[in-house]
Amino acid sequence: MADKVYYITTPIYYVNDAPHIGHFSTTVAADVLARFQRLRGRQVLFATGTDEHAPKVAEATRQRGLEPQAFVDEIVQAYLRTWEETHVSYDDFIRTSEPRHREVVSRVFQRLRDQGDIYKGVYEGWYCVPDETFWQESELIEGRCPNPECRRPVQKVQEENWFFRLSSYQDRLLEYYEAHPDVLQPEFRRNEVLSFIRGGLRDASITRSAYGWGIPVPDDPSKVIYVWFDALLNYITVAGYLSDEEKFRDVWPADLHLMAKDIFVRFHATMWPAILMALDLPLPRRIFAHGFWTVDGEKISKSKGNAINPRKLAADVAERSGSRYDVAIDALRFFIFREVPFGLDGDFSTSSFVQRFNADLANDLGNLVNRSITMLQRYFEGVVPAAEVDPAIVAAAEPMLQGLPEAIEGLRFNVALDLIWGFIGALNKYIDERAPWKLAKEAQQDALAQVMYSLIDGIRLVALAVSPFMPEAAKEIWRQLGMAAPMEAQRWETAMRPGLLPAATATASPEPIFRRIEEKSAPAKEKKMAEPAAPAPAPSPAEAEKPTVTFDEFKRLDLRVAQIEAAERIPKADKLLKLTVNTGKDTRTVVAGIAQWYEPESLVGRKIILICNLAPAKIRGVESQGMLLAADGPDGSAVLLQPEKDVPVGSSIR
Ligand code: MSP
Repeated sequence: MADKVYYITTPIYYVNDAPHIGHFSTTVAADVLARFQRLRGRQVLFATGTDEHAPKVAEATRQRGLEPQAFVDEIVQAYLRTWEETHVSYDDFIRTSEPRHREVVSRVFQRLRDQGDIYKGVYEGWYCVPDETFWQESELIEGRCPNPECRRPVQKVQEENWFFRLSSYQDRLLEYYEAHPDVLQPEFRRNEVLSFIRGGLRDASITRSAYGWGIPVPDDPSKVIYVWFDALLNYITVAGYLSDEEKFRDVWPADLHLMAKDIFVRFHATMWPAILMALDLPLPRRIFAHGFWTVDGEKISKSKGNAINPRKLAADVAERSGSRYDVAIDALRFFIFREVPFGLDGDFSTSSFVQRFNADLANDLGNLVNRSITMLQRYFEGVVPAAEVDPAIVAAAEPMLQGLPEAIEGLRFNVALDLIWGFIGALNKYIDERAPWKLAKEAQQDALAQVMYSLIDGIRLVALAVSPFMPEAAKEIWRQLGMAAPMEAQRWETAMRPGLLPAATATASPEPIFRRIEEKSAPAKEKKMAEPAAPAPAPSPAEAEKPTVTFDEFKRLDLRVAQIEAAERIPKADKLLKLTVNTGKDTRTVVAGIAQWYEPESLVGRKIILICNLAPAKIRGVESQGMLLAADGPDGSAVLLQPEKDVPVGSSIR
């Protein structure tokens, strides 16, 4: 079945809230997979959407004096906008209030009632409104909703209702899962499902007294269909069930239903497959539940107001770092998969996001791209020379090329990113070891061509590998590489081999993509500075005694913007770093007394201000050709000066 459409879904979200980091992580996970399948050349149907018939909606609208439809039409915009801005490439957005879906739900209900899978009975139990779930008295915990993510008060309900004969599917479900051990994932959650089913399934009440919103029960307008029965059917509505037979044949069964653990056991792994069995439809190939995000160790809750809004966070990061907004969004897409194995619970903290941004993106990836293209501009006027890829780089790419498909398809996203960053690390190390500036100085043209070709070709592979995670940042790398073929046209099987970069590709001028986020200064310090009563620090004697200089004297200084290309510690000198600096005219060595305040790796790629015509001096055996400018920090530290906006290397200071 090579041409089966790869069908992947997210849950359809309730429209009561703006999407937060939890909704974002499920949807982006599905997006990563969808993009990866497209990269592999598969046709994909990626669906997300909104679950709009909840009683909560009816309640909220009554309070606001709005029609429910008008209300959901408004709220759904927050989802549409979020997915658009966060680069979610869905193919279909399903809303349960759409006629195409209401039609499917009514017809499925009629069919199951006609065949005896739905019958009328009396329902007595407890209903949790926030969770839209019915519970038996015995299931409650201290009289409250037993869902550990909820635990809110429940309401007693007793009414005549329609029931789905779930109990009669208990054995068939168990048999099915035994025969198909890979459907429920991860493994430890599969066991939860099996013990839930073995514990005994009761028939499920699937209607409620009409509350002025929702899909009416056919021929019984006093009732509406229970929101969960309604919502689960969205997966076949999207696939064309009862409306487009041909499409349905190509698309169904779903290859992957993704969700968090909250709606896995009872709904997606029990009720939904039982409904499909009742309809004689094949079961989804994989149902995967991931963990829950907390924020700074706390459950995400509306009342605490701690829900992280991905758009706001990215806007903040864009502002603080000077990176583009779409790049900041991609950074967040990357971050949610970088540390926590997808499947387990994870804690989100903005500070670890900032650290990862600076270390993995600004430093490792950003500098690799920036310094490589910068060197290509300098040594080959920006045009890729003809050369073979260094076998060392071919070997370094191997684990990524071999391991990535399985890691992504197995939803082991942190492993996938480790593989990619392993290769990025190898490319950075290659620069440091092969020191292209030395090869240039020694006029070793062939070696230099091989190193530069290997680097730019390696970056091409990195851009494609990160593209499912960071589609816009990847496109920007692609643009700077000057690749003639469009990125969207690339296919894994044909493009993911070292050495396919066409010689004579003309790169664009390098621009930093991920700009470092400077930490906000500590609040205590800000306060101190704002206090009018605080006396200005007395000038040190040296400062007080400095003589006036004339403008002509100042003009004698050759001050320029330079870029650090390499940095290392000087043995036995714990304050000194040896820097390799590009001044725009030449590459030279500068010794700087900043080792206590800056890690050498963090400096590579940074732009600084350099006094270029300072008389050379030998410091600890190393000749320093110039001096960089730094401010005295309030705590005695050195704080590097850098241009407020990006300017080309070699720009003079006036
Ligand atoms: N409408 C139902 C789903 C019907 S699917 C046929 C629903 N909606 S929901 O808006 O509450 O979304 C639940 C889903 O949102 C979770 O399964 C998960 O995908 C995501 N998350 C919500 N909060 C989350 C966290 N704190 N952490 C991770 N994901 C979470 O249930």
